Amino acid sequence: MQVVISEDRIREGVADLARRIAADYDGKNLTVLGVLTGSIIFLADLIRQIDHPLQVGLLQASSYRGDAKSPGNLIVNSAFLPDVRGRDVLLLDDIFDTGTTLAVLLEKVRELQPRSVRSAVLLWKEGRQKVEITPDYHCFKIPNLFVVGYGLDFNDEYRNLPFIGVPQTG
Ligand code: IMP
Ligand code: MG
Repeated sequence: MQVVISEDRIREGVADLARRIAADYDGKNLTVLGVLTGSIIFLADLIRQIDHPLQVGLLQASSYRGDAKSPGNLIVNSAFLPDVRGRDVLLLDDIFDTGTTLAVLLEKVRELQPRSVRSAVLLWKEGRQKVEITPDYHCFKIPNLFVVGYGLDFNDEYRNLPFIGVPQTG
């Protein structure tokens, strides 16, 4: 495994993001919505560092088959979503790649009539975007590499690695 972002750098990046969020949401009714499954580690670390009252919810986006990611084949499961009507929602995902997932989920959340919606990602993969939107907050930009760890998976493995890395083949 080649380390791309070390545990220490992740800790600093997440703490810095938490400070920015706490400042920006001063006086607001923050709900942090994590996208399953990739955001769980990021979510757990981030919310513990946000010095501001908040609620937490989860939603899931999965594609019908394989990795073909057209907006139409994303299945959104909002069974674990709290009532966000009138609240200031921050949608949290592991990585902004083509951006399709985030774009679809932002639309879905807007239908629930929150007061505001913004997005935050741990990683922003450069040069891959297929949508108009960009995340409001991000911790790190990375080149076009397939990375795992800190919640990100390859075939549902490696999520437990404490750092971000590139799996080595052979
Ligand atoms: P997007 O819809 O193309 O932005 O894809 C977002 C989703 O694809 C993420 O939530 C991840 O589940 C997955 N993904 C994209 N790039 C990577 C990667 O480098 N490693 C692991 N998962 C990734
Ligand atoms: Mg994933």
